Amino acid sequence: MHAAIVYHSSTGNTRHCVEVIKAEIEETGHACDLFDTRQAKGMDLKEFDMLGVASAVYGFRPAYAALEFLRDMPPVEGKPAFVVACSSMVPANSLNRMARMLRGKGAHVLGGIEVQGEESWTALRFPGLIIGKGRPNADDDESIRAFTRDLIEAHGQSISGKDVERPRFRRFSPFGMIGMLTSRVVMRYAMLGKKLNEDKCTKCGQCAEDCPMGAITLDPYPKFGSRCMGCFSCVNLCPEEAISTPWTWGRVRYKGYGNSE
Ligand SMILES: Cc1cc2nc3c(=O)[nH]c(=O)nc-3n(C[C@H](O)[C@H](O)[C@H](O)COP(=O)(O)O)c2cc1C
Ligand code: SF4
Ligand code: SF4
Repeated sequence: MHAAIVYHSSTGNTRHCVEVIKAEIEETGHACDLFDTRQAKGMDLKEFDMLGVASAVYGFRPAYAALEFLRDMPPVEGKPAFVVACSSMVPANSLNRMARMLRGKGAHVLGGIEVQGEESWTALRFPGLIIGKGRPNADDDESIRAFTRDLIEAHGQSISGKDVERPRFRRFSPFGMIGMLTSRVVMRYAMLGKKLNEDKCTKCGQCAEDCPMGAITLDPYPKFGSRCMGCFSCVNLCPEEAISTPWTWGRVRYKGYGNSE
């Protein structure tokens, strides 16, 4: 089996989850390649016999970058697939939303997993009160490995023509209703603007390189374009803390998976 996992991760938590899945798939003698949503644009999925789609949760739904991939990907008639949602506390119906879009492309969704990741929304990162601090942790990794082993078994059953029970994901959630309203533009406006401190900025370009939407250009300082999906990656990961929003005041940034403060 050769799996492809397409993922969106702004601060590394979701990327860690898919790295654990990849390691477990390889451990069992199969192959697995990871692609972030930027690399996956226009990708030929035919050479893969399983497709995973993984996303961080922003505004009670999967990240716009993951939804955009799912919207634009070609049909994958009958291809076994799975979904992963990484959120700090309220994934709402993100798994169901991704699974529904995959099924709309003809995929055969075999399973999905929700994983808790440390809070990356600076508005909620009060010093000393950080939701999911240090997550995903070793216990989460074990759950992800167990999920992957079940998935590999389900994949074997599916390709040998046996029936695989259709996974049930949370379909309705009051937060999911809010998630219908948090479009990319709403999320961008919800940041209440990004402010650059030119005295701190070294023009290193890391924010432009990391931006999942390609929304930042250097001129020679960063300029923020309208493709921004409000993910806070640039605010959180700038090594000089040169980008701020009103939500940043008094709160600590999330420096990414493995860098919990
Ligand atoms: C703008 C923004 C909105 C978020 N919205 C939610 C949410 O609705 N529900 C939730 O549980 N976590 C939410 N989070 C937290 C992230 O889902 C969580 O920190 C996740 O682990 C980040 O994954 P990543 O490191 O792969 O980007 C939000 C984070 C940000 C920055
Ligand atoms: S990452 Fe920070 S320091 Fe580097 S260019 Fe962007 S804003 Fe400036
Ligand atoms: S500009 Fe910043 S907040 Fe907007 S999508 Fe890019 S990294 Fe995320």
